[in-house]
Parts: sequence; C-alpha cells; structure tokens
Amino acid sequence: MENVKLNNGLTCPVVGIGTFMLSPADAENSVREALKMGYRLIDTANAYVNERAVGRGMKASGVERGEIFLSTKLWPSEYENPNAVDETLERLGVDYVDLLYIHQPAGNWLAGYRQLEKAYKEGKARSIGISNFEGKYIAELETKWEIAPQFIQVEAHPYFTQKELRKTLDKYGIKLMSWYPLGHGDKSLINEPLFAELGKKYGKTPAQVILRWHTQMGFVVIPGSKNVDHIRDNLNILDFTLTDEEMARIAKLDKNERYYHRTDAQLVQFAAWKPGFEKE
Ligand SMILES: NC(=O)c1ccc[n+]([C@@H]2O[C@H](COP(=O)([O-])OP(=O)(O)OC[C@H]3O[C@@H](n4cnc5c(N)ncnc54)[C@H](OP(=O)(O)O)[C@@H]3O)[C@@H](O)[C@H]2O)c1
Repeated sequence: MENVKLNNGLTCPVVGIGTFMLSPADAENSVREALKMGYRLIDTANAYVNERAVGRGMKASGVERGEIFLSTKLWPSEYENPNAVDETLERLGVDYVDLLYIHQPAGNWLAGYRQLEKAYKEGKARSIGISNFEGKYIAELETKWEIAPQFIQVEAHPYFTQKELRKTLDKYGIKLMSWYPLGHGDKSLINEPLFAELGKKYGKTPAQVILRWHTQMGFVVIPGSKNVDHIRDNLNILDFTLTDEEMARIAKLDKNERYYHRTDAQLVQFAAWKPGFEKE
C-alpha cells in the first residue's frame, strides 16, 4: 500500500473505501470485504448513520484496529454537544479515530473545530480535518485554528481539480481527500474516451485510471461502493503509473465544474438537521 505523510508525521493509505449513502447492512458488508482484501482506510460520518455498522464490519474483518486508518465526521448539530466525540467513538466501537473531521461549515463550526483540537490533544483523534471548507471558510479558520488540520475533504475529480484551494493547502501541508472521485455514478466522467484509451494501454478500467490519477495528484481517494468487484478493482490501482504526458492530457479535461452545488440555505438546514443515529 502506498501512503501519504501528514503534516503531523502520521501516514495514511492513499486509497480507502467511502460509505456515503450505504445502508448499515451494505456498509458493514463493504467494510468487512474491503478490509479482508487489503484496504486499510475507511471513511464514514455521523451523517451517514452507519457508524455502528462500520464498527461491526471492522471487527468481522479480523483486521487489527491498529492497522486500520478510520475516518469519521462530526455533523453540525453535534458541534455544541460536549459529548459528540465520545458518542461517535462509542457508536464506532473504538477508543480513538485516526481522523476526525467537521463535516460542513454550518452552525457553530468554530465550536466544532475546537472539539477536534481537544480530541486531538486527548488522543481521541490522531489527526483532524475539515470537510467542505473551501474559499471564505478556510480563510477564516486559518486565522483561528490553534492546530492546523491534516486533511481537507472536498469534491475533486478530473472535471474539478480544486486548483485554487490547493494553493492554501500547500502552505500548511494539508492533504486533500477527494469526494465524488468517480463522479458519484455520473457516466460522463467515466465514459471520457481518454480513460478508455489509457485503460487499454495499462489493462485497467476507466475507473481505475481515474483513481490512479487522484493518487498521482497527491490526493487520497475514497471511492464508495457496495459492489465487491468494484471494491476489488478500486484497490488494484497501484501497479501502474500514468506518464507526465498522460497526466497533462487528463489535466485538459478540467472544466472547473462541480457536480454538487451547496447553497447558503442548505447550510442553515444542515445545522438544524439531527441524524437519527442507529440504536444498535
Ligand atoms: N465530505 C463530504 O461532504 C462528502 C460528500 C460525498 C462523499 N463523501 C465521501 O466520499 C466517498 C466517495 O464519494 P461517493 O461514494 O459519493 O462517489 P464516487 O466514489 O465518485 O462514486 C460512487 C459510485 O460509483 C460507483 N462505482 C464505484 N466503484 C466503481 C467502479 N470501479 N466502476 C464503476 N463504478 C464504480 C458506485 O456504484 P457501486 O456501488 O455499484 O460500485 C457508486 O454509484 C463517499 O462514500 C464518502 O465517504 C464525502
């Protein structure tokens, strides 16, 4: 497994599995199978309402806790709950996470960030991150953080490469973890003829070429899947290297265009929404 080195000295695998929109049963299954086939990075969130299932999948895999890099996210309605971190750990069935994010720049997000810093100091989070904090949000946080984050999780793929944001990340050695790395099921990205051409050359699928592009950009990538064949393919991307010329050709696909457009009104809704956590 290739790893990236974080700005606090920790390492993180470059490929993991995402669990957004996976039901508890699917999340448990995907996590267990992914770990059994060699994955060591798992991404979940309070908001995915599958943290207990992720914890069960980890245990059922037989892989030791210390070998797994586990990432989760506090939801905005938890930012002012003083027990939010402990309750998250309890749901996951662990006594620390490897990475703890605040999920959205909504509600009292500075209180949320302070919870991350506290959890970091207490050893409950081995690294911390911000999710969806682009533009003015990271600019404000930059003036207020005591501990700089190790990660930012944002939408990124060949159509939207986060060029602007990366200038700030480079200043602090913050790593980018890509969400919607394959376009969230949208076929236009996967069907770009260039990925079929490169896939033919390397004996890979277009999805595998896209995921390799992410890692060669220096991104950590967490494709979501409930299909065991896709899960296997998505890990099998580290035995070939795109040339500089091929990376330059992929760079030309950049349209600076997101799939997902968040509005200010949605941020207000996010702050008000409370996840209906799994009871067991
Ligand atoms: N921080 C945030 O706000 C945020 C937002 C969105 C996502 N995320 C994180 O990022 C992860 C990835 O995003 P995502 O799951 O929404 O989008 P994605 O990984 O771009 O796409 C997932 C879709 O691609 C399909 N797929 C996966 N592997 C494939 C392959 N090898 N070939 C063809 N199709 C494939 C999956 O279907 P199958 O199930 O059939 O494989 C699923 O429909 C999430 O799971 C979550 O952990 C974070």
